[in-house]
Amino acid sequence: MPFDRRIRIAPSILSADFANFGAECRAIEGHGADWVHVDVMDGHFVPNLTFGPAMCKAIRPHVRTVMDVHLMIAPVDPYIEAFAEAGADIITAHVEAGPHIHRTLQAIRATGKKAGLALNPGTGTDAVAHLLDLIDLVCVMTVNPGFGGQKFIDMTAKIRALRAIIGDRPIHIEIDGGVTRETAPLVARAGADVLVAGSAVFSGGSVDKPEIYGQNIRAIRRAAEAALGQIA
Ligand code: DX5
Ligand code: ZN
Repeated sequence: MPFDRRIRIAPSILSADFANFGAECRAIEGHGADWVHVDVMDGHFVPNLTFGPAMCKAIRPHVRTVMDVHLMIAPVDPYIEAFAEAGADIITAHVEAGPHIHRTLQAIRATGKKAGLALNPGTGTDAVAHLLDLIDLVCVMTVNPGFGGQKFIDMTAKIRALRAIIGDRPIHIEIDGGVTRETAPLVARAGADVLVAGSAVFSGGSVDKPEIYGQNIRAIRRAAEAALGQIA
C-alpha cells in the first residue's frame, strides 16, 4: 500500500481563542480539520511563550483526530515524556534546538509516539538524510518560528529536495507558516501533504460561527488539491 499523501489540513490553535481551547478544537474538527496543530514556545528558542504539557493534556479529550505538537523549545529532551503523557500523537522537535537531534528523535520514538523533525527557513536538507529512519514527518518552516500571521517565505526548492530524499518512505512533509489559499498550491505542487494554517483558518470565524472555519479549511484544501489536479 503506498503511503497516504492526501492533503491534510492542520489548523494551528495559536490563532484560536485562548480562553476557549476545548470548544475551538471541537469546532475545527467538526468543520473539516484533519489534525490539530499545537505550537509550544519557550521564550528562549523562539521569542514568544505559549503553553506546555498541562495545556496539551487539558485539550486532549477535545481532540479526536491527531494532536500534532510542534515544540519550539530548547532543550527538548527533558520535556518529551511530559508531552507524550499529555497525549501528543506526533512530537516534532527542531533540528536547530540542540546538538543531539538524533538522540531527541530516538527519545520521542521510545515513548511510542510519532517523531517529527522541523527545519527553520535558514536550515538546509543535509541533516535529514541521516535521520530518515527515525522520523515520521518533516516540518518545513515557511516563516521564522515564533508568531502566527507572518508572511510566507518561499521554500518550494527545499520541499522538492525533501520530497526526492524521502522517496517512498512513510514520512509526511508538513508546511508551517503563512499557508493560505494562495500559497497552498505552491507547497502542494512541490510535494507537501500536511498544511498547517493558523490565521488563514481562524480569521473571520469563532466557536459561534464555526462554519467560517469550515469554509476556510475547504478553500485551502481545494486550492492545494486543484494544484495537484485532484479536483476540477
Ligand atoms: C509559527 C508556528 C505556526 C504558526 C502558523 O511559529 O509554528 O504554526 O502558528 O500560523 P500562520 O498560519 O498564521 O502563519
Ligand atoms: Zn507550528
